[in-house]
Amino acid sequence: MGKFVNFRVEVARMKSWSAGMTVVLVLALVGRAYAQGRQGAAPPKPPSAGEFFKNVTTTSLKGLSVDDFLETMGVISADLSYDCSNCHPGAGTDKVDFVFDTPLKKTARKMIEMVATINSANFNGAQLVTCYTCHQRNDLPVTTIALDKLYGPPNEDQRDILPPAKGAPAATRILDKYIEAVGGAQRLAGLNSFIATGTSLGYGGLGGGGSFQIFAKAPNQRAVVIEFKDSPERGGSTRAFNGAAGWIKAPRGFLNDYEVIGNELDGERLDAQMSFPGQIKQVLTNWRVSFPDNVNGHEVNVVQGSGPRGLLATLYFDKTSGLLTRVVRLVPSPVGRMPTQADFDDYREVDGIKFPFLYTYSWLDGKDSFRLNDVKVNVPIDPAKFAKPPAR
Ligand code: HEC
Ligand code: HEC
Repeated sequence: MGKFVNFRVEVARMKSWSAGMTVVLVLALVGRAYAQGRQGAAPPKPPSAGEFFKNVTTTSLKGLSVDDFLETMGVISADLSYDCSNCHPGAGTDKVDFVFDTPLKKTARKMIEMVATINSANFNGAQLVTCYTCHQRNDLPVTTIALDKLYGPPNEDQRDILPPAKGAPAATRILDKYIEAVGGAQRLAGLNSFIATGTSLGYGGLGGGGSFQIFAKAPNQRAVVIEFKDSPERGGSTRAFNGAAGWIKAPRGFLNDYEVIGNELDGERLDAQMSFPGQIKQVLTNWRVSFPDNVNGHEVNVVQGSGPRGLLATLYFDKTSGLLTRVVRLVPSPVGRMPTQADFDDYREVDGIKFPFLYTYSWLDGKDSFRLNDVKVNVPIDPAKFAKPPAR
């Protein structure tokens, strides 16, 4: 299968890469193969993971899109505190053979089927048990409570779907307060576009120093471009969403972009829509309020809403200022939801509208912070910014 050979050759080029980068890379490679497959006389429907890969056989995973499949690999790795190379020895080097079944991979395959069975046999198919339920970042789940834990602080881990809080303010009140806090409905209605520029600070000493741009156009287009102008060999990355389709270009010069066709597309749409806070009440449905919490030392109101195809978003609003301090969005996968978190800080006013000037993004494969130094509102933006990123 030509595609796969191509994919393997590319993997071979990753020699010097850390294993942690593998998922990004593999996604990008797969994207290129996709793009190639979709240009010719290929069937209009992109291949499922079971068709695209050599040895993907579980009922749960084989029907996924290739990008969703690779995201599930990320969820599994995170839940067991593994990286790709634990189950696919040599991942991140030219020695990797993702097709080969190692003992851990065989166990994992059984567990994937087991989890599906537990949920269908006991919870009407609702995904209440995931790898994380038992593994909690351990390779071997623990079975007995430690007495220090029993007599320590209570376990405050939250379920994804938060319990409604009696007596809490209505969701619309919290959302209206946010709209007021960022500038008011009238001003926000006049916000049609913005371009924000800044620098990436990286995380844990890695990845900083890039220049960072956000392009956003109402109601639902957004692109984030990171470039390393002083050291172009580090490659840039682009995420673009044009209101209907999305693309990700991963960080290395020889990679092409790939089209996001799995559940992450809903996440990209939400990010784009939330760039225009005036419409926040319309971008999710079934709003509910849970118990107040604490984020980065601030008391927050917690509001949760639902989106298409099982998208779930939890929004944290500062109780005093009313401003949005955190969004956690979750998209489903057969082994558990995939979380992405954005923290917002240092709101500053630009033409009467408050924009966060400090962003921190965390996702299963990395974490990065961005400091904005400039936001320009209602400027024309070339539509090409939101389209498929140009090949290098
Ligand atoms: C806990 C073990 C485990 C970890 C960790 C893991 N995988 Fe997998 N991987 C599997 C299993 C199991 C399959 C086969 C799934 C199936 O049959 O449905 C698989 C299949 C694959 C395949 C398809 C290979 C083929 O052609 O058949 C790729 C590619 C892959 N994994 C990439 C990754 C990447 C990238 C990571 C790190 C983000 C990763 N995996 C982490 C267990 C793992
Ligand atoms: C109901 C609890 C439970 C769930 C849910 C669960 N596991 Fe496990 N898993 C276990 C137990 C228990 C073991 C240890 C078995 C043993 O000691 O022989 C284990 C062992 C493993 C191992 C072998 C680890 C090693 O070092 O030998 C892998 C890999 C694994 N699980 C993957 C997964 C994946 C992937 C998922 C989600 C698709 C998952 N598990 C979900 C209970 C669970």
